[in-house]
Amino acid sequence: MPHTLGLIGSGMIGSSVARLAVSAGIKVLLSNSREPETLADLVAELGPRARAATPAEAARAADLVVAAIPLTAFAHLPAAALSGKTVLDTANYYPERDGHLTELDTATLTSSALLQHHLPEARVVKAFNNITPHQLVSLGRPANAPDRSALPIAGDYADAKTEATRLLNILGYDAVDIGPLATSWRSEPNTPAYIEPYLGERPAMNLEEFFRWTQQTPGVPVPAARIAELVRTAVRQKPGEAKLPSAD
Ligand SMILES: NC(=O)c1ccc[n+]([C@@H]2O[C@H](COP(=O)([O-])OP(=O)(O)OC[C@H]3O[C@@H](n4cnc5c(N)ncnc54)[C@H](OP(=O)(O)O)[C@@H]3O)[C@@H](O)[C@H]2O)c1
Repeated sequence: MPHTLGLIGSGMIGSSVARLAVSAGIKVLLSNSREPETLADLVAELGPRARAATPAEAARAADLVVAAIPLTAFAHLPAAALSGKTVLDTANYYPERDGHLTELDTATLTSSALLQHHLPEARVVKAFNNITPHQLVSLGRPANAPDRSALPIAGDYADAKTEATRLLNILGYDAVDIGPLATSWRSEPNTPAYIEPYLGERPAMNLEEFFRWTQQTPGVPVPAARIAELVRTAVRQKPGEAKLPSAD
């Protein structure tokens, strides 16, 4: 079990991972794009296992790092401080939000492969990208619980995927290995394993109502076999056309 988890990005997804981690007894080092003091409220809420730092400090001091930042910020990640680290990448590409990136629009690279290029000395594992923040917290269960859910992971390094699997296990999830970073598109927006299975049936609503609703609904457990099946049946969409999960 990692002693310290570094969070680069402590917004909706980063703080959810941090909540699961402190509940599991892991120390967290939180960081964002501003001064560590700006995270005082979150640190206070998470309690004595949480501390705020700069991204480089969080990267250096952590056994394992979660990058939970907007895709557009990947070039700001501290590559030197992340050298030798396993970095779990939560990012998704939505051109209407993130702007267009040619390598992604042409499917030359997946977004996590792009991150791996930026962090050549780190081991990137895609994780936590296909579930909404509230459901990530509410669906975590102990090992062997009958309603335990699974999350897909993808990466090019077996040892890093083993680390990611251990962390997920401690945080309350089974991991389903969906292959290298090149196939990580199988859990990305507009694929069957992306967000919807964990939400279950939902009423018609606009984007704002959707975000509010996801913060209230507990979510639906999705076991490993179901995730494996959904990932297997994914058909690659044009990444440049991924739409935010608005709603109809
Ligand atoms: N929300 C979801 O439903 C969801 C689900 C799965 C995956 N994701 C993906 O996960 C990633 C994070 O999403 P989110 O919803 O958690 O976003 P968010 O709530 O906007 O949080 C983003 C975090 O990243 C930090 N950040 C931005 N630029 C940074 C930089 N250069 N260095 C360090 N930290 C930086 C922000 O810090 P400041 O506050 O200082 O700007 C903030 O703490 C995105 O790629 C998103 O697509 C989101």
